[in-house]
Amino acid sequence: MNMFLVAGARPNFMKIAPIYREAGRRDNISCRIVHTGQHYDYEMSQAFFKDLALPEPDYFLNAGSGTHAMQTARIMTSFEELCQKDLPDLVVVVGDVNSTLACSIVAKKLLIRVAHVEAGLRSFDMSMPEEINRIVTDSISDYFFVTEQSGVENLVKEGKPGDRIHFVGHVMIDNLFHQLGELERGDGSIEFSTSRLKEKYSEYAFLTMHRPANVDSKECFAEIAGALNIIAQDCPIFFPVHPRTRKMIGEHGIELSDNIIQLPPLPFSESLYLWKDAAIVLTDSGGLQEETTALKVRCLTLRENTERPITLRVGSNVLAGTRKESILNAYEKCMKADPGSFSVPPKWDGKASARILDILVNSL
Ligand code: UD1
Repeated sequence: MNMFLVAGARPNFMKIAPIYREAGRRDNISCRIVHTGQHYDYEMSQAFFKDLALPEPDYFLNAGSGTHAMQTARIMTSFEELCQKDLPDLVVVVGDVNSTLACSIVAKKLLIRVAHVEAGLRSFDMSMPEEINRIVTDSISDYFFVTEQSGVENLVKEGKPGDRIHFVGHVMIDNLFHQLGELERGDGSIEFSTSRLKEKYSEYAFLTMHRPANVDSKECFAEIAGALNIIAQDCPIFFPVHPRTRKMIGEHGIELSDNIIQLPPLPFSESLYLWKDAAIVLTDSGGLQEETTALKVRCLTLRENTERPITLRVGSNVLAGTRKESILNAYEKCMKADPGSFSVPPKWDGKASARILDILVNSL
């Protein structure tokens, strides 16, 4: 089986890593990595490849930033050229970024089979670009690899054939367990740039925030910052800042307390090293809602909705909304929760990539 494994943006890299590793263990699979170049800064891209022990991509499409249409169009044009030159049997796309959408459309029109990993998630919020990417990708995929039961239900409701829907668990959790193992093996010997900082605080929170809905609007960002500044008086916050957010802090003149310790974007292992021991994670990321769930760490989600409802059901994640008062209320509720009472969703056991490749090999 000759497959392309597509990644473009930071949240894709940790999802392709375990699939690539698993493919390497099997002799009937040739797996080539296509990096679209949607993310390109060292800290957002190469640092991750290094940290996740991924090889240099086989193909780099150099798409770069731009409006959604410009970025999607550039990825589509280059990916089409690549597929025409080197026709794979299968294109595997992960997640819900513009690269996922662009490459699935191109492959499908060239009659190449498309497998969508992390299919079926729905926030039912069409103002999120990712929701559009998810719906369009799922509308043309041949294989749906699903992380949680709600994904299966959404796909069935949309009329997708049951024999193409596979509830396999979560490749991102495969990677999380793998990286945690690496971190524990090197315990004590790994020195991170934030090691001293972590030692200095016995209790801290960990924050990530980059969604356009939260940071592009000055009013919304200021409202969230108001709550964060109050929380930081109770519990200092480590905050690796995404490039989009950095730009918006400057443009909007957002004031953040000195107890919110701003850091550059961190490699995967260093970020894990910090958040796994945090008293609470505050985030608008999709991935962190799930990773905290897998390790039973409290998570407060700075959004009005989530496409990952299982994380709410098992108790680790609380939806905080984006108003100051609602965030402060959710913070109080979340801090009272006992992580020992949280549970881990079914099949989040580190074996999703193996299940996916078994299904693909058997059916192709
Ligand atoms: C993208 C994904 C989002 C994901 C996020 C994780 C889409 C629609 N969005 O959003 O789902 O959660 O990645 O990071 O695909 N920039 C840099 N350096 C880079 C990349 C981007 O400075 O390496 C800056 C550019 O100014 C760019 C902006 O960040 O315009 C936004 O990047 P973009 O890829 O458009 O979207 P993200 O907000 O990163």
